[in-house]
Amino acid sequence: MRIVILGAGAGGGLPQWNCGCGNCNAARSGAIPSMTQSSIAVSLDGEAWALINASPDLRGQLQATPALYPRGLRGSPIRSVLVTNGDIDHVAGLLTLRESQSFDLFATPAIHDVLAGNPVFTALNPDFVTRKPIALDESFPLLPGLEARLFAVPGKVPLYLEGETVQTDLLGENTVGVELTAAGKRAAYIPGCATVPDWLLDRLAGADLLMFDGTLWADDEMIREGLGKKTGRRMGHVPVSGEGGSLTAFAQAAIGRRLYVHLNNSNPLTDPASSETHRAEAAGWQIGRDGMEIQL
Ligand code: MLT
Ligand code: MN
Ligand code: ZN
Repeated sequence: MRIVILGAGAGGGLPQWNCGCGNCNAARSGAIPSMTQSSIAVSLDGEAWALINASPDLRGQLQATPALYPRGLRGSPIRSVLVTNGDIDHVAGLLTLRESQSFDLFATPAIHDVLAGNPVFTALNPDFVTRKPIALDESFPLLPGLEARLFAVPGKVPLYLEGETVQTDLLGENTVGVELTAAGKRAAYIPGCATVPDWLLDRLAGADLLMFDGTLWADDEMIREGLGKKTGRRMGHVPVSGEGGSLTAFAQAAIGRRLYVHLNNSNPLTDPASSETHRAEAAGWQIGRDGMEIQL
């Protein structure tokens, strides 16, 4: 299994267009690497590819990834696109894929309903793009030979569908993780997750690779830095550090390789030289970076 991290950033990316925080300015000056928004590409043979999440930065991500270039006059090696929730950073890139190109679009029925509820996505011509609803916990071929399974993780509805009260640890079809299995190797991709319950640790036990929600280092970092009013948990993202954070939760987990993805621009893990990055690395984590390739 070959996995390319197309975008290791969270919604907004690094730098974010309207943010002048230390990290965003450091990314603008080239002092730390920039991050585009949340997406990975997966292939078994290097010929047929699946995208997991379609970010608003998809056009640039494709341009930066020769493996995803057209092989002929018209066409694309992208056969499948799977989205793990209805957030803008995971679906807006679908609009980039609108040029009468065939692929299958996989999501849970609830996420398909969100897409169907927005007529802008009819830009994906149904003569070419087949929308495939996938039930939770059922195995399906994301590509020939690549089995995938969607499973509910604690999360919430997309920001733009939030009502007066928001349940942030909802378990259902709105926020899912993806398990990928091929040739005896198992990877899990979970870019959004509000808590790490024991059953999730059990589910992930034995995985060869985990790509997990690294949105915020500290639950209150956006408030503390004057960048926002919400905690990570309120946004449906468990923090990396602190009580109940993912560093502690996964400390004893039997997982091969572990990588943080979906990093917000406020997160000190975006700086390869920060003490927080060294702490995460000492705990066995790698920090996802745009263009990173993983071979399983
Ligand atoms: C998130 O992951 O919390 C969302 O991408 C937020 C957003 O839509 O901006
Ligand atoms: Mn996001
Ligand atoms: Zn910023």
